[in-house]
Amino acid sequence: MTVVAYLIGSISSAILICKLLGLPDPRTQGSHNPGATNVLRISNKLTAATVLFLDILKGTIPVWGAYFLGIDPIFLGVIAVAACLGHMYPIFFQFQGGKAVATAFGVLLPIGLDLGGLLILTWLLVAKTTRYSSLAAIVTVSLAPLYTWLLKPIYVTPVIMLSVLIIFRHKDNIVRLIKGEESKISFKKKSPP
Ligand code: G3P
Repeated sequence: MTVVAYLIGSISSAILICKLLGLPDPRTQGSHNPGATNVLRISNKLTAATVLFLDILKGTIPVWGAYFLGIDPIFLGVIAVAACLGHMYPIFFQFQGGKAVATAFGVLLPIGLDLGGLLILTWLLVAKTTRYSSLAAIVTVSLAPLYTWLLKPIYVTPVIMLSVLIIFRHKDNIVRLIKGEESKISFKKKSPP
């Protein structure tokens, strides 16, 4: 099941959808990250939302599948980490993947809608006030272990592992944020060229 989770995580929806729509590989554009934020930079809200949805789904599917198979909660954590590692280091795409923010959200959703709601609220609050998607992700994953500890403490260890991994994947964003060079996201409709 862990291998299956890793393989599902390795399916990069950003790369595949961009290819399907005749868009450039997101790994060669913008932040070079194959994720919804970067797809928003090179495409539009609908394409980015589709990538976001699929990236969430590929986290939720293996964890939910394993849960219904009766797998022990501690192994659910291993499966969750495997799905996110697949997104970060995809076997199908030369191991050049993304930061797994959406996929991590997907693996955490089965823990509970209360946790999911808190994560969304935190991300939206930071993203709306600062317009930095990366900062919103960093703050959200930093608070995720605390939220989990308060709501479902049994899962706190895998959530800490995920948070550390995701923050590590944002190291370039952190440097850009410190230098004031990080690009902001726009919630407004793009004006036609
Ligand atoms: O979800 C990814 C986000 O936190 C950062 O994306 O493209 O700005 O590096 P990006």
